[in-house]
Amino acid sequence: MFTQFFGLKYNPFSKEIAPEHLFASRDLAELESRLKYLKQVRGIGLVSGEPGCGKTCALRKFTAELNPAHFRPCYFALSTVTALEFYQGLARALGEEPKHKKVSLFAQIQETILAMHNERHLVPVIVLDEIHLASNHVLEDIRLLFNFRMDSHNPFILILAGQSLIRTKLALNANNPLRQRLAVKYFMRGLEKDEIRDYCLSLLKKAGCHEEIFSPQGFEAIYATTNGLPRLINNLVTTCLILAAGEKKTVVDQEIVYQAQKELEI
Ligand SMILES: Nc1ncnc2c1ncn2[C@@H]1O[C@H](COP(=O)(O)OP(=O)(O)O)[C@@H](O)[C@H]1O
Ligand SMILES: [Mg+2]
Repeated sequence: MFTQFFGLKYNPFSKEIAPEHLFASRDLAELESRLKYLKQVRGIGLVSGEPGCGKTCALRKFTAELNPAHFRPCYFALSTVTALEFYQGLARALGEEPKHKKVSLFAQIQETILAMHNERHLVPVIVLDEIHLASNHVLEDIRLLFNFRMDSHNPFILILAGQSLIRTKLALNANNPLRQRLAVKYFMRGLEKDEIRDYCLSLLKKAGCHEEIFSPQGFEAIYATTNGLPRLINNLVTTCLILAAGEKKTVVDQEIVYQAQKELEI
């Protein structure tokens, strides 16, 4: 196993990364400062970016760090759902057994949010992930669902997260009302070129390896291949480590990166 070869306690580039092990990239810091503001003002926020740029991980970290005495995280990842399925999924994410009819579900969702806020003094923090899959109909419903006391009161935090396509959808006139209600927006870009080395070294270090495994040209090649997207970097670097360990090489240079790239056909 490559982990043994490089003295690693676990693969630091796996998708099961714990929130506290995430690399503190500039992107993550920028997003966190916006989420901190959203925590104060409440209402709706938007996090968009290419697949694999780190949206879900960042939101997992954000919700894990919330004080459970004040906030109640609820996560729902959309697929190509109908409006009814969306309502049902949302009700379940709020811990409710969904009612059958759409009108009853609408009332159920609003009442659950209000009860959580008014009776239990908890702010629900609802993350709707993969929001780019939502139809215009669902987007319109989201605006109606999250309208409390004639839009004068925010007993919730709603975070919409999804691929860049959501920005195109929200730019449509029909979605103006929702777009105008976004208190914060952040577009995640992934890592910048000068962060790749720190990213790899800090994750390796946390997993117990303190050696300089990569050559400077190796890092250049990793950035050129992945454009700084963490998921692509992780797949590429894991393959590099497997190849290097197989050849008993302690340094990953650009040759190994290109070999790994070919294997993955990125
Ligand atoms: N800040 C980070 N530090 C370490 N690994 C990260 C970080 N952000 C993302 N990753 C890695 O990249 C993968 C993809 O991130 P994810 O949040 O699922 O992307 P997205 O939701 O934007 O598609 C994760 O499984 C994780 O392994
Ligand atoms: Mg995601």
